Amino acid sequence: MFDFDLPTSRLETDSIRWDAFDKEKAIPLWVADMDFQSPPCVIEALNNRVQNGVYGYTHSPLQLNRMIAQYLLEQYQWKIDPSWIVILPSVVSGLYTAVKQLTNSDENILVPNPVYHHLRLACSSSEREFHEMPLQLHDGRWVFPTDSLPDLITQNTTLALFCNPQNPGSTVFTESELREFGNCCVENNLWICSDEIHAGLVLDEEKKHIPLASLSEEISKRTVTLMSLNKTFNFPGVGLAWAVAENPALRKAIGVGLHETIAPPSLFAYTATMAAITKGEPWRQELIKYLRVNRDLIQNRIKSIDKLSIGKMEGSYLAWIDCKNLNHPNPYQLLLDAGLATSPGSQFGQSDFVRLNFGTQKSRLIQALDVIEFACA
Ligand SMILES: Cc1ncc(COP(=O)(O)O)c(C=O)c1O
Repeated sequence: MFDFDLPTSRLETDSIRWDAFDKEKAIPLWVADMDFQSPPCVIEALNNRVQNGVYGYTHSPLQLNRMIAQYLLEQYQWKIDPSWIVILPSVVSGLYTAVKQLTNSDENILVPNPVYHHLRLACSSSEREFHEMPLQLHDGRWVFPTDSLPDLITQNTTLALFCNPQNPGSTVFTESELREFGNCCVENNLWICSDEIHAGLVLDEEKKHIPLASLSEEISKRTVTLMSLNKTFNFPGVGLAWAVAENPALRKAIGVGLHETIAPPSLFAYTATMAAITKGEPWRQELIKYLRVNRDLIQNRIKSIDKLSIGKMEGSYLAWIDCKNLNHPNPYQLLLDAGLATSPGSQFGQSDFVRLNFGTQKSRLIQALDVIEFACA
């Protein structure tokens, strides 16, 4: 019904991913957006809004919070009150605000490793000390050795940052893993900021996304959940994000700076998000099927290359490739010199890895895998 093989051109669109490298020299599969058009329902809604021609100051639509609450109930069986939602321009701005507002300068924060770099940068830019929770490979999945978590918590630890589905590593945490993590935070009086931006991109046929805050009232009252449809429906250039916080004090904290130093979302963000909520599901289902085929292509090819390995790819379109056995000082550069731009693992805290974005047409992914095979030979 939707053609994800359709070639799209991102040249002359000021794409961050496509403009960073000479396209003759490197296939750009790094920054996390996809090469697919957004769903037709989103394009149509945006077109209609553009045609109106008047783009004045716009408030968040009155029905938006209700629509998001309904969406969370349908997708994740998570029952929230629409008043728990704070609309934000982006997940990243929510991460930085959470760190600044939920901790004092002498307090410290738990942060996964590896992880999307802005979780760490949010701490360092606020000059907060952070302790890393190392993910370890168990049965092919990147998980936290939860029995060692309490050892990382000091008297001054007040906040834990979390990412589920995990980027990079693509773990979709199970209910018991989430309970263990959430309960540990509750027992130690930690606030939690859970980045769940990849929630709509669960690829593993046997897994589903479980919002951490949905597990218990105790966890919910300590948690700010950050979500967005930007990744799933591929409109991070126009989208918005939201925070869900049952606790009014957390809601107040996450709203600091909004409309003062943090600009509201663009009016097009409301249009795109509401169109995706109301009509985007059939497209999302097809996208997941397409990404699963790409996932399988990667798994099979990487397994056939002696010196590379990869864990299970449960969620997101970001493959976390272990290059340790290449014994190369800079696997990212090795691949770049061979003609493929990945994200260097060092960005996420592990320089022996690279992250490959497979949210692209199959034909391009196959070319990228050929480059990897050639570079490793
Ligand atoms: C885990 C995670 N959080 C947040 C973001 C960025 O979110 P936003 O564009 O809404 O700031 C990304 C983008 O790659 C991500 O992977």
